[in-house]
Amino acid sequence: MSSEDDDGDKEGLANPEMTTVSRHDFGDSEKIAFSISIIENMKEDYGLFVWPCSIVLAEYVWQQRLRFSGNSVVELGAGTCLPGLVAAKVGSHVTLTDDANRLEVLDNMRRVCDLNKLKCKVLGLTWGVWDASIFSFHPKIILGADVLYDARAFDDLFATVAFMLQSNPGSVFITTYHNRSGHHLIEFLMVKWALKCVKLLDGFSLLPSNKAAKLSGNIQLAEIVLNHKQVEETSCL
Ligand SMILES: C[S@@+](CC[C@H](N)C(=O)[O-])C[C@H]1O[C@@H](n2cnc3c(N)ncnc32)[C@H](O)[C@@H]1O
Repeated sequence: MSSEDDDGDKEGLANPEMTTVSRHDFGDSEKIAFSISIIENMKEDYGLFVWPCSIVLAEYVWQQRLRFSGNSVVELGAGTCLPGLVAAKVGSHVTLTDDANRLEVLDNMRRVCDLNKLKCKVLGLTWGVWDASIFSFHPKIILGADVLYDARAFDDLFATVAFMLQSNPGSVFITTYHNRSGHHLIEFLMVKWALKCVKLLDGFSLLPSNKAAKLSGNIQLAEIVLNHKQVEETSCL
């Protein structure tokens, strides 16, 4: 059974067996430029649901579309992959990744690409695991929506992010996260991984009012790059 509704409304998701297709519009106040349809399933956990962080990051990609056009982009922990699909729509060469053991999530990504007639690579990439996939692409922009939700996974995630930033000079990690504790999470992680946050935005500040009205919580967007100074200091020790 399926249902279709606008802008991430989750009508019908109360039924855990139900698959739904949500529609997400991008454009300015005058005109919708395009819509992306996402297949969601509440029966499965994390990866088959469009999390609010993903709506914020996708909107940011749309607003920054000139920067994305023609560039190579990798989305980590992509799940239903809305930000990566928007990047593909505005002309990025996109690789969508998620936990290599979660085949249902990877299959759903392929279905969603087909549904939107977008060509993206889909690969299993488990954070902190060094198999062939991590050496196979050279992103200019790394995306991650709501990938900072389980502190036990932070080290693996940032090992992968730091490796990618080091192997691809000039690259940037753009992430949205739900700051549930209110603590200085990003500051702590930056020092630990020799990274630096070059932009920190309140997610709601960039959302159009119709999208903001449907979300709640403290969502932040961070742009993170390698901290060359700290890398040099550490390597001199
Ligand atoms: C909270 S969901 C966010 C999904 C999507 N980015 C969004 O915002 O809608 C977290 C995602 O991270 C993925 N994930 C969790 N642990 C992972 C790991 N160790 N390696 C790779 N992906 C992982 C999950 O499968 C899931 O898709």
